[in-house]
Amino acid sequence: MKIIDLEKRQGDFQMKTGSFSMEEGKIHGIIGGNGCGKTTLCKLIMGIVKPDRGRIDYEGLEVGEITMTAQRPYFIQGSVYENICYPLKIRRIRPDEQKIDGWLARCGLEEKKYQYARSLSSGEQQKVSMIRALIFDPKFIMIDETLSNLDPENLELFEQVILEIQKERPVTWLLISHRLAHIYKMCEVLHFMHQGEVLASGSRDEILFGSEDERIRRFVANEVIRMEEKHGAFEG
Ligand SMILES: Nc1ncnc2c1ncn2[C@@H]1O[C@H](COP(=O)(O)OP(=O)(O)OP(=O)(O)O)[C@@H](O)[C@H]1O
Ligand SMILES: [Mg+2]
Repeated sequence: MKIIDLEKRQGDFQMKTGSFSMEEGKIHGIIGGNGCGKTTLCKLIMGIVKPDRGRIDYEGLEVGEITMTAQRPYFIQGSVYENICYPLKIRRIRPDEQKIDGWLARCGLEEKKYQYARSLSSGEQQKVSMIRALIFDPKFIMIDETLSNLDPENLELFEQVILEIQKERPVTWLLISHRLAHIYKMCEVLHFMHQGEVLASGSRDEILFGSEDERIRRFVANEVIRMEEKHGAFEG
């Protein structure tokens, strides 16, 4: 997928991405401070937000093959099961109940199948949001901070899930997270965003440890300090 000079004005925020591409079949990450435009970029890719200028070359990918999990998951009124079936329903795909039960069991949610989705804890909501995104086998998956409320064990579960999917049938991922250890572990390519612009794309080592750009170096240093305060040392 190629992002070509997307521009979008939202209130007093001006997004001007510049151009960059996301190679198919790889795990990409976007890092950047709060309010730099990461979620807006995902919404532009999803087609929920229309750009003022610029365009996206989807390179044959169809909008129905793209999905995004939201920073704050949104659920329709109804059970966990109904929510997981929702993306299948709108694509007229018959739900495979066994497959869904398998996912719920793997995530420790088998008891929650008929619970009202909006009454789940925030970590449980994030897990259901992940299952809902993966259930229709999309080809381009954006994870917008969805894993941020998961405890280390559940975070690792989804890291494992992502790597397994990559082994079976590589898809393109775009992970957004402020947990640099997670980003470093998972992503092959990183894109750094600053005030609505994608300043640099490169390998994780190039961006996190090899950049000459003061804005990137400062961001990484601050995130590492913040993380050490929160979780102990950066385990890379
Ligand atoms: N509908 C809107 N109207 C006005 N401003 C908006 C709107 N949507 C987003 N913005 C602004 O656009 C900017 C980018 O928002 P965005 O949600 O893309 O940031 P982000 O990089 O995802 O941040 P975070 O790390 O906090 O999730 C922010 O300053 C936000 O306030
Ligand atoms: Mg965001």
